[in-house]
Amino acid sequence: MALERTLSIIKPDAVAKNVIGQIYTRFENAGLQVIAAKMKQLTREEAEGFYAVHKERPFFNALVEFMISGPVMIQALEGENAIATNRDLMGATNPKDAAAGTIRADFADSIDANAVHGSDAAETAKVEIAYFFSDAEICSR
Ligand code: PPS
Repeated sequence: MALERTLSIIKPDAVAKNVIGQIYTRFENAGLQVIAAKMKQLTREEAEGFYAVHKERPFFNALVEFMISGPVMIQALEGENAIATNRDLMGATNPKDAAAGTIRADFADSIDANAVHGSDAAETAKVEIAYFFSDAEICSR
């Protein structure tokens, strides 16, 4: 297995539910280390840029509105197989389909407000981490 990095966002619904710590505990218990973190109110431009790949999809405007509806907690995670490990912790995009014990099953209410984002591939992770963190903000051992 390879040491990987992934970008994670705790979305406005989960921040409002005050479960940042519970989600961090799941990262830590799965062997993922937080190597950079910031809490942030995204601007519309930041959210649109981050999700630009989805701009033709019917839910794009709703997704952007949701992501700017309150602060988010953004972190880069590092660990063995970090991308897949984080996706396993997150569960399916729609919480109705998410396996029991996953973050979305436990904390998300709907596909529109689904608690967390996680990079889906190595190349995406690299781009997404660089979108929010400079090299100087990453504290890896
Ligand atoms: S995924 O997780 O990337 O495989 O899922 P995908 O279906 O490609 O969805 C891309 C992002 O859009 C969000 N999404 C939605 N938002 C609002 N309404 C609807 N119906 C909807 N469907 C999908 C989904 O959560 C993905 O956002 P992130 O932040 O990557 O999880």
